[in-house]
Amino acid sequence: MRRFSADYLDDTRRGMWSPGDREALAPLDLAERSVVLDVGCGTGKLSSVLASETPADAQVVGLDRDPALLAEVPDPVHPVLADALSLPVADARADLVVCQALLINLPDPLAAVEEFQRASSDLVAAVEPDNAAVTVESSVAAEERLTARARERFVDGVPTDVTLGAAPDLFREAGLVDVETRRHDHVRTVEPPYDESALEGAKRKATASRLDDQRETLLDGGMSEDAFEALRHEWREMGRDVVEAMTAGTYRRRETVPFFVTVGRVPTGEGDSAPDSRGA
Ligand SMILES: C[S@@+](CC[C@H](N)C(=O)[O-])C[C@H]1O[C@@H](n2cnc3c(N)ncnc32)[C@H](O)[C@@H]1O
Repeated sequence: MRRFSADYLDDTRRGMWSPGDREALAPLDLAERSVVLDVGCGTGKLSSVLASETPADAQVVGLDRDPALLAEVPDPVHPVLADALSLPVADARADLVVCQALLINLPDPLAAVEEFQRASSDLVAAVEPDNAAVTVESSVAAEERLTARARERFVDGVPTDVTLGAAPDLFREAGLVDVETRRHDHVRTVEPPYDESALEGAKRKATASRLDDQRETLLDGGMSEDAFEALRHEWREMGRDVVEAMTAGTYRRRETVPFFVTVGRVPTGEGDSAPDSRGA
């Protein structure tokens, strides 16, 4: 079971859903929602966006199984300790059940989507990245090569499908109708003048701390211990080059994380039929 720190979520969600960049959430019809569940909400980064885009009297609930992350969920989101596969709500209690980067961390994502459908009277949505398609462009050439090497072994070593991205088949299999999915890109750039998070990121590279956190996964993905040590050595060297380039004000990095917003509707029984029964 992968655990996530509040720092990691802060760092990787930076700039995602900034005001003026929420067009990808349009299919969630947030202005019309009254009860929204954000499942696997972590520190509530998406939940607070949902709270600001829904009507003032709407209720937004953030659910997660990690109490440490839930403790960071900001008002007015209501935090609830819960498992995604057994939500503590009555059938059809919400009119939107949504998750972000949750399905990629579950061994049985279909079971979760089925549970979301049970809890919703209207929409179910998933915002999921394709971690195999992440790209990094960097002014420190070794960074592109080393991150690609680590990513490849990481994707192979994680026991869940972190490349899921678009989930229309899963949604249809769960019985949802009118399923739509669209790709968007979360682009994170580092360029001068560098802010505190960029400086922290460079320090992390120079110590290889995040790579160390992934050691077991990379070994599970087929990397030998010697290959890991060699990668770690090169990674720290690359990190020192990044720190040096930042000091000179010449470091630039652009990371693109493709993510997909999939939305489906709970069938009402009036004119709706599950796609399977239409043979679609
Ligand atoms: C990658 S984080 C995403 C957090 C948040 N949605 C975001 O995008 O910032 C995955 C989250 O799912 C939670 N999680 C994983 N499995 C879960 C489960 N079975 N039930 C509830 N939460 C779960 C983790 O605790 C973590 O907070």
